[in-house]
Amino acid sequence: MGLLEAGWEHSDIDLAARRVERARRVEADTSCRCVLEPAEILAGKEVVVIAVKPRDVHHLLKQIDSAAEDGHLFLSLAAGVPTSVFEKVLGEVSVVRAMPNTPAIVREGITGMAAGAYASPEDLNLAERVLSAVGPVTRLEEHLLDAVTAVSGTGPAYAFLLAEALTEAAIREGLPRDVAELLVHQTIKGAGHLLVDTGRSPFELRSEVTSPGGTTAAAMHILEERGFRALVEDAVRAAAQRSKELGGFAVAAEDDS
Ligand SMILES: NC(=O)c1ccc[n+]([C@@H]2O[C@H](COP(=O)([O-])OP(=O)(O)OC[C@H]3O[C@@H](n4cnc5c(N)ncnc54)[C@H](OP(=O)(O)O)[C@@H]3O)[C@@H](O)[C@H]2O)c1
Repeated sequence: MGLLEAGWEHSDIDLAARRVERARRVEADTSCRCVLEPAEILAGKEVVVIAVKPRDVHHLLKQIDSAAEDGHLFLSLAAGVPTSVFEKVLGEVSVVRAMPNTPAIVREGITGMAAGAYASPEDLNLAERVLSAVGPVTRLEEHLLDAVTAVSGTGPAYAFLLAEALTEAAIREGLPRDVAELLVHQTIKGAGHLLVDTGRSPFELRSEVTSPGGTTAAAMHILEERGFRALVEDAVRAAAQRSKELGGFAVAAEDDS
């Protein structure tokens, strides 16, 4: 949808699904053609986006192998799956691996991306042109994409968990649910805007609202004392580790074939 909102034509985009009811729903939602045989839609395309679960990547690559041509750019969104998995099945093709996040739905995403062994700077530019329809894009070495997955790919869930916890705490303090939700949602949105729009560090912005002996200082003391930073660090490490494991499943599927 982000591509369409960014001005791409419906006729520029063909989609594939593996279940007929899903294909019909996707067609109704997007007004783009959606087929059940992915190989049918590769001819004449510049970019082939692979957006399936890591465990489904290998099967999909086998389905499209015969239709892959020189000049195709394979843009993979599959969490943890190395570009080498694509190159082993499809040969010396251009692959860009990317990790967007769900705020892409409202065109406020952030994407980290990395080139495979045969992707040129022009391929990276093309991938960036596609991905930037839904938010900024940053280029990295491929080995850093598991960390990107753990930070910004998983990141919206951290913010949503904070929103849930803060809302429940607000209700326990006596606020009606609708007021609590309004306060929390707008506070998270506003804090995000402040960070991005001013370019100032979170430490600076936090210090400004933390008067000695004040309310914020009392709250920060509890969070620091109870290990908030260590908890976040452990959560991010667990997500990065899981990203590596998921990629490993795709490599294993490739090795088994
Ligand atoms: N969601 C996120 O925040 C996010 C962010 C960054 C990256 N990613 C990555 O993007 C990928 C997709 O995530 P998602 O949440 O969109 O997954 P999803 O909801 O499961 O969507 C994938 C779709 O692909 C279909 N599919 C699977 N194999 C296929 C095949 N061979 N041919 C045609 N269609 C096929 C699935 O069909 P069924 O409906 O039959 O299952 C499903 O509808 C994952 O690798 C994920 O790690 C997701």
